[in-house]
Amino acid sequence: MTSHPSSSSLRGRAREQKMLDRLLLDVRDGHSRALVLHGESGVGKTALLTYLAGRAPAGRVVRTVAVETGSEIAYSALQQVCAPLLSHLNPLPAAQRSALSTALGLSGGESPGHLLIGLAVLGLLAQAAAAEPLVCIVDDVQWLDSVSVAILAFVARRLDAESVALVFAVSTSAPGLAPANVRLLVGLPELRVERLGDQDARALLDAALPGPVDPSLRDLIVAESRGNPLALLELAREI
Ligand SMILES: Nc1ncnc2c1ncn2[C@@H]1O[C@H](COP(=O)(O)OP(=O)(O)OP(=O)(O)O)[C@@H](O)[C@H]1O
Ligand SMILES: [Mg+2]
Repeated sequence: MTSHPSSSSLRGRAREQKMLDRLLLDVRDGHSRALVLHGESGVGKTALLTYLAGRAPAGRVVRTVAVETGSEIAYSALQQVCAPLLSHLNPLPAAQRSALSTALGLSGGESPGHLLIGLAVLGLLAQAAAAEPLVCIVDDVQWLDSVSVAILAFVARRLDAESVALVFAVSTSAPGLAPANVRLLVGLPELRVERLGDQDARALLDAALPGPVDPSLRDLIVAESRGNPLALLELAREI
């Protein structure tokens, strides 16, 4: 598991942090926002999501946790998003309540249609955000079950003025990438998380190194990592 620095120690992400701050301000103002962070593995998508979660109102964040082996169990990611919000299920129309309850395994019955489940999730998020803004974070989309991603993408496209942020992150280089999941998010607002520039890469490396190192070795690590923070940190650890 990778550890994540505090928001103040993120290097070279002022633009991205500003964008996430803006998104939170919009949501606090009663709008809803969807956003998809794209970028190669180790570039810092989860670190930015952690920054976002840290800036969101306390207790108003739901976050999925994916496993690298992937999950083929339908609705497992959706279950993670919805489980903390189930106290808001009651006001939903009966058909939606029943569809979502069945999908999440809370009640039996025929497998419900995705449209009904999608509308139910939208309603659930709206209810949960009625009193205070809500931030939903869906990380590692490439490893999630496709049914959940399809439903969450449906919800993201229909968000309007519920005070909900629905923020996804997807790796463009992870092994076992599910291109179908990535396609489901096409057209949603995007934030491309790029490699760090040379100066920020050097600053991150210097902060990670236990002490001074030979300048040529430092240059070599920066070149080798090609601005990927995870690569930089791993190379620094090997010294
Ligand atoms: N801008 C940054 N400044 C300092 N540390 C960073 C920065 N970006 C990422 N890191 C650190 O680099 C490591 C990798 O970052 P992170 O896990 O966020 O990558 P990721 O894009 O989510 O990768 P993956 O696609 O594999 O999930 C983490 O330890 C993280 O804290
Ligand atoms: Mg990540």
